Formats: sequence, C-alpha cells, structure tokens
Amino acid sequence: MSGISIKSADEIAKMKEAGRILSIVHDELAAFIRPGISTWDIDQKGYEIIKSFGCEPSFLNYEGYPGSICVSIDDEVVHGIPNKKHILREGNIVSLDAGVIYQGYHSDAARTHAVGQISEEAQKLIDVTQESFFQGITCAKAGNYLHDISEKIQKYVESNGFSVVRDLVGHGIGARLHEEPEIPNYKTRGRGPRLVPGMTLAVEPMVNAGSYDIWWLEDDWTVVTQDGSLSAHYENTILITEDEPVILSLV
Ligand code: MF3
Ligand code: CO
Repeated sequence: MSGISIKSADEIAKMKEAGRILSIVHDELAAFIRPGISTWDIDQKGYEIIKSFGCEPSFLNYEGYPGSICVSIDDEVVHGIPNKKHILREGNIVSLDAGVIYQGYHSDAARTHAVGQISEEAQKLIDVTQESFFQGITCAKAGNYLHDISEKIQKYVESNGFSVVRDLVGHGIGARLHEEPEIPNYKTRGRGPRLVPGMTLAVEPMVNAGSYDIWWLEDDWTVVTQDGSLSAHYENTILITEDEPVILSLV
C-alpha cells in the first residue's frame, strides 16, 4: 500500500488553478530579469505577483526558508536566498524556483534564465535541462513506472555531456508541498511505484555542467556545485492521466 495521494476531481481543479497562476508568475518574472537587479528584487516582485492572485507563496517560511522565490545564480544549484547584495550581471544564468498555494493546494515550478548575453555552453545547459524534463515525462502515464521518468532524464542529460544532481529529487505534491513519492532524476535501484491517474508530481531535473557533486553553503540553504561549474533547474507540476500527462504549471 503506497502513501501516494490520488487527487479527486475537485482537488485537481484546485491544483490546475495553482499551476495556471504559477505559470503566469514565472512569465512575469522572466520579463523582469535584467542585469542590475538584485535577487531580493526578484523575490519582492514574485511575492507581489503571487499576492495579486490572492495566493500564498508556498516557500515563504517553509522549514524556515526566508523568501518567496528561490533565486540561484550560476554555480548555485537551488535554494539561493534572496539578498539585496546579490546583483544579476550580464552573462549570468539565474534559476527561479517558486510555488503558490491556491485554496490549500500547492504548485511548484522552476525555470532557468539568461541574464543578457550568455555563453553558448550556458545556453546549451539551460536548453538540455529543460528538454530533459520533456523527455522524462514522455513516459509519465498510467501503468508505467515512476523510475522510467528518472532514467529518461538521466540518459538525455548525460548524452549531452552534463550531469544530473543526485542528492536532490522531485516529489509528489498536493495539499503539501512535498508528498510521496521521491522522484530521482537518475536511475536507482528498482522501478519505483506504478503511475496512477490522479497522481500529481513535481518533476525537477537539476543539471550541472561539470560533476554532479554538490554541497551546502553556511546558510544551510544555498546548494552549489562542488567544482564551481554552472547549474540549471527546470521543474513543472504535472498530473498523471491514462494518456499524456497534463503540465499544470505551464499554460
Ligand atoms: N521547489 C523546491 C523543492 O521542491 C522547494 C524549495 S524549498 C523552500 O524542493 F524551502 F525553499 F521552500
Ligand atoms: Co519541487
């Protein structure tokens, strides 16, 4: 008996709305990104947009996290803490991870953006990370195994010469931000649970240009690559159906 929640039609409707709003939040933040702004500015902007929809930011105060948006620059993998002194510069890449709560239900999504002109390698990293998500979810349908997604992501990333972070994983999502199951982005032992219609999952490849090793900074949140290489993140909340998955946080 697995502890993975299967959402009712009513719950799915709420998650759809949470996802739709988050998709707009990301679009507006993407348009806001430019050299010279701080990661704190991005957090403020994100907070305002989320509130303008009458929603709450999922991450604010989550296990003590102090921001609404996780903002991670260059070799920062995820969970960068917004800071007035952290200024975006031309050539950076910046990962934005955000979640909203709509009528008690969470959505969770991440995008990595270029700040002005970036290197070819950096652009390839962003593109491969995003595409690995779409490759992964080609097997996200009822009857398949969860780890089919994981394997697809890993194969695509590694065939492009990059590496998949091992120590952080995707997750089920719903009335809580993090629910069962864990969703690794690489092959592990076993095949994981079978996918069932009504499961809602946050699939989130984190991809490094160099080795997959990471560590945590002194703030206990910011995750960085050990070798200082660039890292990108792409995530959406999806709904499992008998057929193609529905990408709730992309409209
Ligand atoms: N999207 C992140 C995740 O799934 C959530 C950020 S953790 C927080 O792990 F504390 F920053 F909220
Ligand atoms: Co997540």
